[in-house]
Amino acid sequence: MKMDVLLGLQWGDEGKGKIVDVLAPKYEIVARFQGGPNAGHTLEFDGIKHVLHQIPSGIFRSQILNIIGNGVVLDPIVLKREIDGLGKFSIDYMKNLVISKKATIIIPTHKLLDAALEKSKGDKKIGSTLKGIGPTYQDKIGRSALRVGDILSPDFQEKYETLVAKHKTTLSFYSHPLDELPAMEEQFFAAVEFFRTLNLIDSEYVVNEALDSNKKILAEGAQGSLLDVDFGSYPFVTSSSTMTAGACTGLGVAPSKIGEVFGIFKAYCTRVGSGPFPTELFDKDGEDMRKEGNEFGSTTGRPRRCGWLDLPALRYSIMINGVTQLFMMKGDVLNIFKEIKVCTHYELPDGEKIDKLSFEITEQEVTPIYKTMKGWNCSLENITTYEDFPVELKAYVEYLEEELNVPIKLVSVGPDRTQTIIR
Ligand code: GDP
Ligand code: IMO
Ligand code: MG
Repeated sequence: MKMDVLLGLQWGDEGKGKIVDVLAPKYEIVARFQGGPNAGHTLEFDGIKHVLHQIPSGIFRSQILNIIGNGVVLDPIVLKREIDGLGKFSIDYMKNLVISKKATIIIPTHKLLDAALEKSKGDKKIGSTLKGIGPTYQDKIGRSALRVGDILSPDFQEKYETLVAKHKTTLSFYSHPLDELPAMEEQFFAAVEFFRTLNLIDSEYVVNEALDSNKKILAEGAQGSLLDVDFGSYPFVTSSSTMTAGACTGLGVAPSKIGEVFGIFKAYCTRVGSGPFPTELFDKDGEDMRKEGNEFGSTTGRPRRCGWLDLPALRYSIMINGVTQLFMMKGDVLNIFKEIKVCTHYELPDGEKIDKLSFEITEQEVTPIYKTMKGWNCSLENITTYEDFPVELKAYVEYLEEELNVPIKLVSVGPDRTQTIIR
C-alpha cells in the first residue's frame, strides 16, 4: 500500500482540517509530518466547531490511529491543552493518538527567542505566529534540540538546562526580558509530566508496517506550499518542508511509497503574516472576501490578507508536490461577486510578462494580469451534486482544470463536513 498525502497549495488555511476529517473514514491512519502549534485546522460537524493545532484531524473518527510524526515540532503545553479540550468528545487518546519519540520539543525559551528575533527584524518581521517554530527547527538542524524520547531519559533536566543556558545567551544579546520564564517553565514541566504518560513510539516502524499490511494512511500537511522553507516566498516562510517530500522525511516513508497527492486550494487566496502576495486586494472586494470567508487566523485571530486566485503560484505548487488531484475549497465565498478574477501572469516593472515564480519574484513588485470571468452570484446552499452547480461555477472549475492540467475532484461549499461536493 502507498501513503496518500494531502497538502495546502497556497499560504495556509486552505481548509486542510475540514478535508482530512471528511476523507478520514477511508483511512486507518492519519499522520502529521511537519509544523507544530503554528497550524490551526478547523473541523465542523454536528453543530460543533473545533480547531486543532498539533493533533491530526482524524482524531474525531474513533477507528483512526492518529500519528504525530518525527518531522513535527511539539509544544507539550499546547498538547496538554488540546487533549484536555478533547475531553468533552469522549475520545480515547490513549488508543487513538501516538507520538514519535523523534519529534522535536518546543521549550519555553524557543517562544521567547521567536519574539526576540521578530522584534529585532523591525518592519522586516516575518509575522510569525510566535509559537517558537523557527527557533526550534533551528536547534533541530543545529543538532542541539530536545526530542520527545528525551523526556523519558534520566538526564532530561540536565539536557534542558544546557539548551536553556544557550538560549539565554542569545536572549541577553537581544536584551529580551525573562520575567515570564519561571511561569512558563512551571507550565512546561507540568505538561511534560503528562506527556510522559502518552503513547510515545518509533512511528516510522508503525507507519511502514501499516503500509506493508495494506493499511491506508493519509499524511496531513500543515501550513502551505508557498510557506515551504525552500520553495516558499523566503524569508517570509515557515521553517519546515511543507511539501510532499516533507511527508517522506517527516514520517520516514520512502518516496516510492507515495500514492495520491491531494492538493487543496481556496477558490481565491489568503495569507497571514508578511511577505509578497501579488494578487492581494486592498479595496472593498478584499474586505468583502475577508468578511464572507471569515478570514481571521485560526491560531492567532489575525485578519487574513485576501486576493484573487493566482494561477502561476498554483501551478508552481502542483509542480513541486506532484499533485494528482485538486480539491477546491470555499467556493461559496465567491457567491457575492458579480465578476471573478484569476491571475494568469505577472508583469515585471520593465513590462516583461512572466508566469513563473523565479528567484527574483520575491524581490520585485509585480503587477498581476487578470482574466475576468462571470460570477454565479447566487447561494450554493442545498446543492448536493456538481451537476446542480450554476453554469458560471462549473465554467470556473473547468477553466481551472484546463489551466492546471490536474482534475478538480472535490469542491467545498461550506465549512461543515456535509458541505462537500465530490465529483
Ligand atoms: P487549515 O489550516 O487549512 O485547516 O484551514 P483553517 O481551518 O485555518 O481555515 C479554513 C477556514 O475555512 C475554517 O474556518 C473552516 O471552517 C472554513 N472552511 C473550510 N471549507 C470551507 C468552505 O468550503 N466554505 C466556507 N465558507 N468555509 C470553509
Ligand atoms: P495552517 O496549518 C497560515 C505563517 C505565519 C507567518 C509564517 C511564519 O493552519 O495552514 P511561523 O510561526 O511558522 O514561524 O510563521 O508562516 N503561518 C501560517 N499561515 N496558516 C498556517 O498554518 C500557518 N503557519 C504559519 O503567519 O507568516
Ligand atoms: Mg489554519
